[in-house]
Amino acid sequence: MPKLASYNGKVDSIENIKVSPMSRAFLFSDSVYEVISFYKKKFIDFETHLDRLKHSLNETKISCSIEDCKTEIVKLLNESRFEDGYIYYQVSRGVDSIRSHFFEESDCERFGFIEEFSFFNQSPLKVMLVDDIRWQRCDIKSTSLLGNVLQMNDAKSIGCNEILMHKNGELTEGGASNIFFVKDKTIFTPELSTNILPGITRYQVIKIIKDKKLNFEEGSYGIDDLKEASSIWFTSTTKGIVGVEEIVNLETKINPECELLEICKNAFVKRYFS
Ligand SMILES: Cc1ncc(COP(=O)(O)O)c(C=O)c1O
Repeated sequence: MPKLASYNGKVDSIENIKVSPMSRAFLFSDSVYEVISFYKKKFIDFETHLDRLKHSLNETKISCSIEDCKTEIVKLLNESRFEDGYIYYQVSRGVDSIRSHFFEESDCERFGFIEEFSFFNQSPLKVMLVDDIRWQRCDIKSTSLLGNVLQMNDAKSIGCNEILMHKNGELTEGGASNIFFVKDKTIFTPELSTNILPGITRYQVIKIIKDKKLNFEEGSYGIDDLKEASSIWFTSTTKGIVGVEEIVNLETKINPECELLEICKNAFVKRYFS
């Protein structure tokens, strides 16, 4: 079955979509994106994803109507037969006639596709701790993901399925997820900054932690904090909340069985997937 996709508002089989090689997404990764999940044909936190897309568009000075994006994303879901899955949706600055770093006002270019996905098959992660070699605006959900791609493939070559990045010893986030850890019965997560993506799942999990009145702190944490952690979790739209079973290049005391993780996971499933 070919994937269903949308290009500048027209929904078609992905094989029929033709994109110009002069697209600034192709030439410069001059584009931003979102991954939005849906369950039983309903989007999860749709408006929060649209707000983040708006932030990415504003910060990159890409002009695009968020209402058009919304209409196209909804249309893609409505025209698909999938009940559970996610939509990948990106907006580029547009298609140029010459390749130039300098941009001018142009029509944005919008592309998305829909995937069927089951949200309940996550096994614990094996993680490699790596230097964060990315740019300094990781709060923007840019398609320029070369730093993540290179480090994640190094991790894969030694049997890992995620990375945990640090900048000069300060923890930032995973290659495609945010991080939480538990120490002395308190849940910690790096505070928002331009070094991390404001994950929608991170936001959902913090809401749950606060509702449940669990001990919680957001701040700046280092590798030594991880060495003392009893549990480490990653969060993302496609992973949900998932525990880490091992950090291959760091001695830790982590145990994938964690009561606080189970409390948050159960509340998360109840709130978003029932
Ligand atoms: C670098 C990075 N951090 C965090 C996340 C998690 O964000 P969200 O929960 O919105 O999926 C992602 C998701 O792709 C990501 O790529």
